[in-house]
Amino acid sequence: QVTSVALRRVLDSRGNATVEADVLTDSGGFGRAAAPSGASTGEHEAIELPPGAAIAAAREHALPRLVGEVYAGNQREVDAALHAADGTGNFSEIGANSAVAISMAAAKAGADALGAPLYQHLGGTFRGDSFPVPLGNVVGGGEHAKEATHIQEFLAAPVGAPSVSEAVFANAAVHARISELLDDRGVPAGKGDEGAWAPPISDGEAFEVVGEAVDDVESELGFEIGFGLDMAAAELYDADEGVYVYGDQTRSTAEQVDYVADMVDEYDLVYVEDPLDENDYEGFSALTARVGGGASAPNASGGGPRADRTLICGDDLFVTNVERLQDGIDTEAGNAILIKPNQIGTLSDAFDAIELATENRYETVISHRSGETEDTTIAHLAVATDAGFIKTGTVGGERTAKLNELIRIADDAV
Ligand code: PGA
Ligand code: ZN
Repeated sequence: QVTSVALRRVLDSRGNATVEADVLTDSGGFGRAAAPSGASTGEHEAIELPPGAAIAAAREHALPRLVGEVYAGNQREVDAALHAADGTGNFSEIGANSAVAISMAAAKAGADALGAPLYQHLGGTFRGDSFPVPLGNVVGGGEHAKEATHIQEFLAAPVGAPSVSEAVFANAAVHARISELLDDRGVPAGKGDEGAWAPPISDGEAFEVVGEAVDDVESELGFEIGFGLDMAAAELYDADEGVYVYGDQTRSTAEQVDYVADMVDEYDLVYVEDPLDENDYEGFSALTARVGGGASAPNASGGGPRADRTLICGDDLFVTNVERLQDGIDTEAGNAILIKPNQIGTLSDAFDAIELATENRYETVISHRSGETEDTTIAHLAVATDAGFIKTGTVGGERTAKLNELIRIADDAV
């Protein structure tokens, strides 16, 4: 049984405050987790409150329903109590940041009470030998670095890596190779919020540089490294004009679909996230039909990471929400979903989205946020649910915390 829940403000990777929760049980279980925070958030996400307000509201409304009332090992019960305490459907009363920190801390306390690693407690005992492929953000701009590329993330996707460790190091090698290539071009580059290089170059140049780096590292390491994108197109979309804005240039929806399809062909992209606006199911559907092999098309590996289709992934489109995902399934919009527990507020809700996706042959990609902490819950979640991919950056302590935890899990050392 949960005997105490402590909440505090701690720093995230951008230097902003976020919510951390400690959960204790009467059997000696202890769990600690912190909420991440987005910059290019979807308009349909659960509501993040200012941390001080979220903590005060959770203390008032949620703690009385948790302490002495629920078992940390019963995740559904914990998360139902959080929903009941909030009462709004989008966590605008207690804050999705308080909710997700408590939900994840309770899971860890439940695992600790059982003496099991978190990924086992979350269902990992039935996982296969496969590990999630880490998508590594290596060049980026958009809301994560304003003076850099319009496209938010250029990603390395080491789909042919023989192990998760080799995949993690492959992404780091691509990141390092890009630094050399930018140097050769005389381009200075700082880093964006997720540790990706943020050079002041055009999207076209970024495609060239990342394409070259991926090819170089692929030949060096001898296994397939794919190329992916998170376009975060809702941030580019001007709803009044109905166009995507790339600096001085604009693209209509039809032109945007053509542009993405051309880039998929030219760079053999294995993954494109949010290629269209967060309300454009129709556009997602058109693009999926064109390059995604259709939403329910079978693939060689039975839905695993080496899919012979380009993954068209909904992040801001689906916001880890089963109703929005169901709309996508019904309209064949996309063939993959990004899973961010803080978009929906609890681990149970995130699991529901993963389950619905898997039943409908949508690939699942477990994801960090641009504002992160050292919390490693998503690494365990990805392994526990046999996700095809995990997107959690390439370098930087709050990113390597998850990547190193994946390496440890693979080594059975957690
Ligand atoms: P965010 O970006 O965490 O700033 O929302 C990550 C993403 O769009 O995938
Ligand atoms: Zn995204």
